[in-house]
Amino acid sequence: MTEVHMDLLFSRERIATEIARLAGRIDEEYAGREILLVSVLKGSLLFTADLLRALKTPAAVDFVRLASYGSDTQSSGIVEFRYNLETPIRNRDVIIVEDIVDSGYTLEALYNKLLMQEPRSLKICTLIDKRARREVAIEADYVGISMEDGFIVGYGLDFDEKYRQLADIYLVKPEETSLP
Ligand code: PRP
Repeated sequence: MTEVHMDLLFSRERIATEIARLAGRIDEEYAGREILLVSVLKGSLLFTADLLRALKTPAAVDFVRLASYGSDTQSSGIVEFRYNLETPIRNRDVIIVEDIVDSGYTLEALYNKLLMQEPRSLKICTLIDKRARREVAIEADYVGISMEDGFIVGYGLDFDEKYRQLADIYLVKPEETSLP
């Protein structure tokens, strides 16, 4: 694949500021409790690591791997569970950690699956809330940055498995992707 054209959208400083704010809110709301972060691989890798470091609340972490995109840029609406939690979550205070909510299909499938395991509480924390193409009525409890539309890469987010390693988030020109 050739390099794509991209413009800086959210800097590493902005990301760090938002993460500090989110961690502060979580610390306030879960004071005196222990939480379990459920990180949604692969995109949430960097966000989870930074959120975990910013939290004062004692936090365990576990991972799930879901996929709905393949190498396309549009959600297929079919969510595949490729890797599941190892930690029992019954009676735990659980926070799902996502890098981005787009159509909402991934989060809805995960949320419903975890809810059936009877956690004490279940909340959603996303770094990016992309609103324009939401297809299911699901809202994150903690949102770092809201945006309307646009295909973004960096800070864990990929385009065909590339660019996850970038420290900032970039907007890819629509003509570079298969977006309508
Ligand atoms: C991305 C992202 C979210 C999901 C959001 O994951 O990390 O999990 O899509 O999209 P949705 O709201 O339309 O369901 P992806 O399937 O690309 O896998 P990845 O995290 O491994 O890149």
